[in-house]
Amino acid sequence: MLKNHIRDVFDRGAATYGQQVRFFDYFAKQLVAQIPLSKEAHVLDIATGRGAVLKHVASRIGSYGKMVGIDISQNMVTETTKELAELIPNAQFLCMDAEQVVFADNSFDAIFCGFGIFFFPNLAKALAEYMRVLKPGGYVAFSTWNTYHPCQTIFTEEYNKLHQDTHPLPHLTYEELIKQLTTAGFNNIKTIHDQIDYVYPSIDAWLTSLWSHFTRSRLEQLSPIQLTRLNQALHTRMASLLQPDGLHDIKTAIYTIATKAE
Ligand SMILES: C[S@@+](CC[C@H](N)C(=O)[O-])C[C@H]1O[C@@H](n2cnc3c(N)ncnc32)[C@H](O)[C@@H]1O
Repeated sequence: MLKNHIRDVFDRGAATYGQQVRFFDYFAKQLVAQIPLSKEAHVLDIATGRGAVLKHVASRIGSYGKMVGIDISQNMVTETTKELAELIPNAQFLCMDAEQVVFADNSFDAIFCGFGIFFFPNLAKALAEYMRVLKPGGYVAFSTWNTYHPCQTIFTEEYNKLHQDTHPLPHLTYEELIKQLTTAGFNNIKTIHDQIDYVYPSIDAWLTSLWSHFTRSRLEQLSPIQLTRLNQALHTRMASLLQPDGLHDIKTAIYTIATKAE
């Protein structure tokens, strides 16, 4: 089952997740900036990972509000609790499936999900749950990847020459997300496009970083010989993206925001 595979991959990557790459932090900050938050807000962060989104929510709401971060990976929850429980005492981290949240109706002023919804096999079920637990007038805010990432594109081309990914994620476009949000009854849907020119210090730093997010799933399917071949091919092709300060990759994301009617 894809959901168990996703959980297991993130369990194995939890200790280093996002540690070599700071762009999750950048996109989390921008996502949180998209919606108004009162000092007393109750906020739910779905697929919280290492808490990138809640760190920025915490600086917006101070100690007055309440935050809950949920994730299907127990190791993510354990690592994030270790790192953030003392720093953000009004945040709680729980192991929970994004499609089956156990909170009461009308509990939250805002629900965030940073780079998570494309992992949920039944998005319609998940969105129905967010509609249920969101207060009238509350906001949902999601980030998803856009299509253009030169390093990732080259990676996929070279990977496909060696192996066929046995656990591909279904591709979720933002147009499809808008359709599903509309069906779930959300209003005022808008999208914001964003991008950063992210610089890795070297090709090897980029290759190492691949193990600290979901690309790990694809790498784990390769034999040692295939990994060596991939490494060599990527070094050759990446040389053209190298500049004096390092390896440049354009990361593009879309924030999708919507509200629940008053
Ligand atoms: C790419 S990470 C994003 C983490 C964080 N939101 C960020 O922006 O850095 C995706 C996270 O989604 C979690 N996840 C995947 N499927 C899930 C599900 N069905 N329910 C809850 N969490 C899930 C993974 O365990 C992982 O921590």
